Amino acid sequence: MYVERTLSIIKPDGVEKNVIGEVIKRFETNGIKIAAMKMIHLSKSQAQGFYAVHKERPFFDSLTDFMTSGPIVVMVLEGEDVIAKNRKLMGATNFKEAEEGTIRKAYATDIEKNVVHGSDAPETAAFEIGYFFNALELHAR
Ligand code: TYD
Repeated sequence: MYVERTLSIIKPDGVEKNVIGEVIKRFETNGIKIAAMKMIHLSKSQAQGFYAVHKERPFFDSLTDFMTSGPIVVMVLEGEDVIAKNRKLMGATNFKEAEEGTIRKAYATDIEKNVVHGSDAPETAAFEIGYFFNALELHAR
């Protein structure tokens, strides 16, 4: 079995809404393992570096302000097909389009304040995991 990894973030609004446990519970009940985890508060330049692919988008400044507005929980998730599995659990970017039963449908209030981030491909997962964690902080599950 090929075990994949992805980066998950519980964004400042998820931490503020006190749903860290609810989000993690969804991962665990769906067979996803946590290989690394920490709570941090990003600086503006750290948020800009993380979202560099979006730097030309109109929402970039607002998004990076929001991501620095409070602490976040960053996690590495591990499991078979976990990139797609996590994206399915998260739901659509815009909570209004998110399917019933998804994290964003349950907790998001805004297209920007949408509770969670999840890598969308193996290449972005590799960049994003390396952005937050070094080899000693990753635990094979
Ligand atoms: P994106 O990578 O398109 O979505 P996802 O998080 O589902 O992979 O966009 C990154 C974040 O940017 C998204 O979670 C919320 C924010 N965003 C906006 O604020 N406005 C927008 O119109 C879009 C597309 C995204």
